[in-house]
Amino acid sequence: MADNIRLGFIGTGGIARAHADAILTVTGAEIVAVTDANPEAAAAMAEKTGATVFESATALTQDAGVDAVLIFVPPFAHGDAERAALSANLPFFCEKPVGLDPGFLHEIATEVENLGLITSVGYMTRYRQSVQRVREIIAEDPPIMAFGGWWGGTPGHHPWWTDKSKSGGQFHEQATHTVDLARYLFGEVVEVYAAAANGFNKGVPGYTMDDAVTVAMKFANGGVANLMASCSSNAGGSLFLDVHSLNHNFHFSEWNHDVLIKARGAEPESIKGEEGIFTIEDQAFVDAVRTGDRSGIRSSYPDGVKSALVSLASNRSLETGKPVSL
Ligand SMILES: NC(=O)c1ccc[n+]([C@@H]2O[C@H](COP(=O)([O-])OP(=O)(O)OC[C@H]3O[C@@H](n4cnc5c(N)ncnc54)[C@H](O)[C@@H]3O)[C@@H](O)[C@H]2O)c1
Repeated sequence: MADNIRLGFIGTGGIARAHADAILTVTGAEIVAVTDANPEAAAAMAEKTGATVFESATALTQDAGVDAVLIFVPPFAHGDAERAALSANLPFFCEKPVGLDPGFLHEIATEVENLGLITSVGYMTRYRQSVQRVREIIAEDPPIMAFGGWWGGTPGHHPWWTDKSKSGGQFHEQATHTVDLARYLFGEVVEVYAAAANGFNKGVPGYTMDDAVTVAMKFANGGVANLMASCSSNAGGSLFLDVHSLNHNFHFSEWNHDVLIKARGAEPESIKGEEGIFTIEDQAFVDAVRTGDRSGIRSSYPDGVKSALVSLASNRSLETGKPVSL
């Protein structure tokens, strides 16, 4: 293996640019190959990074001599990239949410496990000290209830985002971070029951989203949560998760997931979310590829699939009007 881990990007849009900036600050890695369905986007990333453009995920994984690939395609576009990585036996990083089709997600997760492949999914919040501190506490004082969400205005920058058939809806595409954090704290979700608000948010071209979604869920540990998403709050938004256990309250706030911890009979503790979280996440993946030790990766592909299945089950509950078991 070369001195630097040689990385290939599949998908070179907005989040790929954020990871490209992060990888510049990662030790021992370089971006050597890129591909995108849009040649102009691939060319722009090649210019930014000095990488070579390949015409497809298959060509990149077979001909570029990469050690690993990073998959940055929108939710509807998963498939070729993962299959190309698997056929070349290449470790891969995949942005969340990992796809829209449960059958496909099970298929890829099973193949990843069979091959023993190193994988990582972009649930970067898991790398935060605030989250790790709360996990230490709840190992002794288990979480009972959570309430949280991710809401804001209607993004206009991605045509695919406001088309629910392509993004999976906001609960799946964006609030997946909150779902994943709840799973990381409580353990597996066993049942979801969802309700949506529709018909308020008018005049957005191509908009097929629910205006707002609220999902009640039960966890295997016996705990419960209500998690929400709204893309129809144009005066401003909020991103938070409140959790309580018998003897603690935890309040995570905003994108950095600062946390305020209150315990019975103790002074409150607060931890600010760190900057540069993509660097931390990408360094963990690069280090795992270099050493073969995957213990620094906090969300593997099979684990990321479990978070995606929770929001896909919530979509099924919206369609049927009934609770859905996982
Ligand atoms: N972790 C985070 O906080 C975070 C933040 C933003 C986006 N994301 C996720 O990253 C993913 C991509 O989002 P984005 O904002 O970069 O979108 P984007 O639209 O800016 O970029 C997506 C790119 O993928 C390309 N593409 C589409 N289909 C393709 C295919 N089959 N093969 C190759 N390229 C293809 C498009 O041409 C585009 O350049 C989404 O799943 C999104 O949820 C994660």
